[in-house]
Amino acid sequence: MSGWSQAVSTRAGEDPSASVGTFTGNRGLQIEEKLIFEQDSPGRCGVDLTDPPPFQARLGGLERQGAIGLPGLSEPQVVRHFTRLSQKNYAIDTGLYPLGSCTMKHNPRLNEKLARLPGFADIHPLQPTSTVPGALALIDTLAHWLKTLTGMPAIALSPGAGAHGELCGIMSIRAALEARGEPRSRVLVPDSAHGTNPATAAACGYDVDSVPGNPQGRVDLGALRAKLDTDVAALMLTNPNTCGLFENEILEIAAAVHAAGAFFYCDGANFNAIVGRVRPADLGIDCMHLNLHKTFSTPHGGGGPGSGPVALASSLAPYASLPWLVHGPDGLELVEDKKGKAQQTIGRLKGFHGQMGMFVRALAYMMSHGADGLRQVAEDAVLNANYLRVRLEGDLSPAFPGLCMHEVLFDDGFLKDTGITTLDFAKALIDEGYHPMTIYFPLVVHGALLIEPTETESRASLDRFADTLKALAATARSGDAAHFRTAPRWTPRRRLDETAAARRPVLRWDPERLNQEATE
Ligand SMILES: Cc1ncc(COP(=O)(O)O)c(C=O)c1O
Repeated sequence: MSGWSQAVSTRAGEDPSASVGTFTGNRGLQIEEKLIFEQDSPGRCGVDLTDPPPFQARLGGLERQGAIGLPGLSEPQVVRHFTRLSQKNYAIDTGLYPLGSCTMKHNPRLNEKLARLPGFADIHPLQPTSTVPGALALIDTLAHWLKTLTGMPAIALSPGAGAHGELCGIMSIRAALEARGEPRSRVLVPDSAHGTNPATAAACGYDVDSVPGNPQGRVDLGALRAKLDTDVAALMLTNPNTCGLFENEILEIAAAVHAAGAFFYCDGANFNAIVGRVRPADLGIDCMHLNLHKTFSTPHGGGGPGSGPVALASSLAPYASLPWLVHGPDGLELVEDKKGKAQQTIGRLKGFHGQMGMFVRALAYMMSHGADGLRQVAEDAVLNANYLRVRLEGDLSPAFPGLCMHEVLFDDGFLKDTGITTLDFAKALIDEGYHPMTIYFPLVVHGALLIEPTETESRASLDRFADTLKALAATARSGDAAHFRTAPRWTPRRRLDETAAARRPVLRWDPERLNQEATE
């Protein structure tokens, strides 16, 4: 065992079996997994290859001189290692995943099946376009669905995630303003926004100006109007917002933004709550990214491969990122260079066309649901969140009164005077076999707990989750703070030092450093 990968309940260098109470350090069938480098048996090899025939070195002396440094393992060891690691994941395929602002959706197996069709999976981005008409038709059909659902006339498909879509959108807005001869310097962002919004605006060279919310958890329209002037490039607004609430003054917001000559950017991360019910273009939105992994059920992955297409109004369409797929006299045409009709584009943001595999999955989801099915998705997402809100409102403390959209926000008022924090409460939920909800976000609510159940959870599943939360809340009220402070008790790792992990991340195997830390 290496010190830094141990639970904090075990001191660096100590035998983990001491704290677990088993001879092996394992807990039942939860196997204590060593790093692959710690399993090294020098000289052992999983394959038996013949020596390569003599060849002439062509690297001009740059050949590797020493051993490559891979651990020696047999094939069964490798298979067990990676299988055990895969079993340590918590996933939507394992259980309810209530992470707010994330829309952890079930990934239908039909999508996976279609994405594996050789005609989609085996094509190469450098193939001549004449050999891939089916793939181009699929991209065009996906764009058509996204245009229909958003009401926007143009779609940039290449961005690789929501945050990347924000970059595409704000760069397009900046290009449009520059073309208008009025480069502006500020972007307005509500104080409840996801961190990627101000980060995107700052990355594009704008000053970020925070707009306060009102007591109902929405943007304060008066404060917004006071900040709007001819120096504002855009408002970046999430709708439904990160408090899980629909911005009910959105038409007035759009009118005020446009009256100031600014663009209205919408963070579409929460589109799942309104897909098929509301077209963002009808709300006055000029530009909006769509996280395909949130609304259209493509897998979240470990930070990728993602897809964050951007829907654009006609005023921003000429600036959309390349490549474009357009209808020409001879059918679908690819526009790949910044010239001709694409003279004003912001250029490429990503290699090739984006994540083809995600396009296939998203379109499969859309077509298998149909227009009525997508509308039902939004309705069920909102219904499930409100079901939890009503079941929990007597035990937890809702941050805002009234109906919510697809996620329900609580503050830590219900933990007042218990000595238990939101973090403690979330850790205790892990012991019950649930991934915690999003905590401490949005920042506008004290000790926030943001629960997004998603639409595919059954009533029985929601009831089990609600019963667990109610039981935990009752335990907190009974004064048993130790139950929470010592949680999680049943996980392979207890509470880790999250500050050290953020401040001094150990990102690669470094035996010298580990030895040094073990002796400290
Ligand atoms: C409101 C909001 N905006 C933007 C993002 C960023 O999206 P992505 O993770 O796809 O980059 C998220 C992600 O959780 C989000 O919740």
